[in-house]
Amino acid sequence: MAVLVIISIAIFSCSDQKEEYHLNVPGWFPKPEIPDDNQLTKEKINLGKRLFFDSRLSSDFSKSCASCHLPQHAFSDTVAFSSGVHERAGERNSPSLVNVAYKPHFFKDGGIESLEFQALAPIDHPNEMDISSTTIVQRLRKDSHYRHSFKEVFNSDVTMRGITHALAAYQRTLIFGNSKYDRAIFEKKVSLSDLETRGLDLFKSDSLNCSKCHSGVFFTDYSFQNNGLKAHYADSGRAKVTSNPDDAGKFVVPSLRNVEVTAPYMYDGSIKSLSQVIDHYASGGSDHRNKSELITGFSLSKNDKEALIAFLKTLTDKEFQQDPNQ
Ligand code: HEC
Ligand code: HEC
Repeated sequence: MAVLVIISIAIFSCSDQKEEYHLNVPGWFPKPEIPDDNQLTKEKINLGKRLFFDSRLSSDFSKSCASCHLPQHAFSDTVAFSSGVHERAGERNSPSLVNVAYKPHFFKDGGIESLEFQALAPIDHPNEMDISSTTIVQRLRKDSHYRHSFKEVFNSDVTMRGITHALAAYQRTLIFGNSKYDRAIFEKKVSLSDLETRGLDLFKSDSLNCSKCHSGVFFTDYSFQNNGLKAHYADSGRAKVTSNPDDAGKFVVPSLRNVEVTAPYMYDGSIKSLSQVIDHYASGGSDHRNKSELITGFSLSKNDKEALIAFLKTLTDKEFQQDPNQ
């Protein structure tokens, strides 16, 4: 016993020196996996946050990560295609980064497997930040503040590895679970209204099927599905990664948390409102050989449609409820 106590004291005093950061995770969320080679520290997260909002990461100094992932919109964008440097338009809608720590893969086609690696994609992309790693590193090395932080966090000069690791560390802290739904279902501090409860029942019903794909605490099973958005897709989605025609037109099932503030919707931002999203599912969508069998169409009364929308709006975290732009 004495030995055990001594060992644990040794371990704790060791980790204290590293100033480990404890993520604030709601009790009903799983614990996110943090890679061994990118443990969270307060200093690293602050550095990642500074980088996330820094437009020196784009060639013409016009765009930061936050230009397309707007904090007040659950870190998504309000336009179908965000514009990158020189206002060049992208090809997919900017997703929310809330709870990104839980994603098993990234991008709508799942083409990227690690959050550390992900940051290199927008930096390099001609329609996004369009800048070489060498230029970013040169720019940031001129800033004594960054030089000091990299030394403190990574014990090195400014490096691309450090930039991507700090950005990933910051993004992993974007864990939110304090919506009305959380307060009602898990904390039992408030009650859903009758309309919201009716909407939740519809969402879970076998006639609408919503919760069969948008399942679990994050309202996604992270699978790739064709939800009948189009008969012909210009963007082949998951098939871009697998080259399998059975994956054409399949995109990752998005989380519905904060969906109230992440319009427009779908991979191409082609649906503008929640009301139109429901009309899409009610119609059964377009015919496509890969369309999921769960997309069958249904009819809803005006009141039930209102109820479903009211339920979806209970998924908005407190942080995003005060948005003056809404
Ligand atoms: C010009 C707009 C733009 C900029 C700038 C931008 N992003 Fe994105 N981001 C997007 C779009 C669009 C996607 C979806 C891409 C896809 O699915 O192919 C995306 C996807 C992501 C994802 C994957 C999320 C998911 O759910 O799969 C992460 C993480 C991310 N961006 C972080 C960043 C970081 C970090 C930066 C800064 C280094 C950044 N983004 C800069 C537009 C942008
Ligand atoms: C077969 C699985 C499946 C079913 C069933 C399903 N969805 Fe989806 N849902 C998806 C996929 C996949 C997307 C993303 C499509 C894309 O990116 O183009 C999506 C997108 C959405 C979006 C847009 C989110 C965003 O951020 O763009 C909303 C809202 C939504 N679904 C709500 C619902 C509702 C409500 C129902 C039930 C009526 C439902 N879904 C049924 C798979 C499904």
